[in-house]
Amino acid sequence: MLFTVGSLGAVKMFDNCERILYCRLTPWLQTRRTGPATSSINAGNMDRPVHLSNIFDPVSTPAQAILELSWLVLWICAGIFVIVSGLLVYTIIRFRRRRADDDEPPQVYGSNQIELAWTVIPLLTVFVLFLVTTRTITAVQHTVPSAEALLVTVVGHQWWWEIRYPALGIVTANELHVPVSDQTQPLPTFLKLQSVDVVHSFWVPRLAGKTDVIPNRDNQMWIEPHEPGLYLGQCAEYCGTQHANMLLRVTVHPRDDFDRWVAAQQQPPVHDPSVQAGRDLFQATACVNCHTVQETVANGTFGPDLSHLMSRATLAAGVVDNTPQNLRAWMRNPQQLKPGNLMPDMKLTPQELEHIVAYLVTLQ
Ligand code: CUA
Repeated sequence: MLFTVGSLGAVKMFDNCERILYCRLTPWLQTRRTGPATSSINAGNMDRPVHLSNIFDPVSTPAQAILELSWLVLWICAGIFVIVSGLLVYTIIRFRRRRADDDEPPQVYGSNQIELAWTVIPLLTVFVLFLVTTRTITAVQHTVPSAEALLVTVVGHQWWWEIRYPALGIVTANELHVPVSDQTQPLPTFLKLQSVDVVHSFWVPRLAGKTDVIPNRDNQMWIEPHEPGLYLGQCAEYCGTQHANMLLRVTVHPRDDFDRWVAAQQQPPVHDPSVQAGRDLFQATACVNCHTVQETVANGTFGPDLSHLMSRATLAAGVVDNTPQNLRAWMRNPQQLKPGNLMPDMKLTPQELEHIVAYLVTLQ
């Protein structure tokens, strides 16, 4: 029984080690990935790499509950490990065979007290762990959205996130914006998770645990961030070639700031007459089959909605900063920045490329 508890602890520790390693390594990998040609990429990650995605620094109710439970389980298992291995080492040394020991040592046949102790103590330990784990799972998984909760649908694609706010009429990609929730005015965000292709997993370490994103199934999770800021996450289930480049950014806004973001996203796309040539060209190419720009013929849903493209900080699900240069490089050859991604090379002439980029950068 003690061994079982110890093994459970070891598994839990291993899981945490994996997460710690992941959290430490990811920002490093992200900075490594950024070659000299795109040195400004992910500048935000390099400034404060660990705090953006550290599971030991939760800022949201479910993440806090999970961390508290993990510490409790770790401490109990560490205590068991120290006691069991201490007794083992003591026994090995104290009762080792000595030269003078020719006779068989005294034989002991059972002790009711000891039998009782090593049955009851592990049973109680497992019972306590079972109760606290059940309490946390219930609190994290079985919470029902309150009337004022923000409802968001997140759809996993190979390899980007579609983000929809059905009640607000907003569609965006890869960058989730939510309001802060405080004690006086709780405002949790509930996420409905869907996938159009394979299994993905939604994970923003400082906000909540992982939840799988499964085709033909609606999963649900919630976050309740208490501090405004930027929190990084990533797809946490291998989903194909560009799994590692399926990044997530969650911006937690103060209330009034969030309302401004909503109002800006609800505006129709900018219609700048000076880029009419690019706009016409965009509408005449196959771009419109995969992307949507409201109030144009573009109404595809295979790729990200571009109505407010330039309001996003990154391109290609967090791979590069969203700058006109990177946008141009992306459209010239999508496979160079993110090999294997599903956006085809449109074979635009340099002049066509300039026109379309000039149009797209007006979509604030
Ligand atoms: Cu999506 Cu891994």
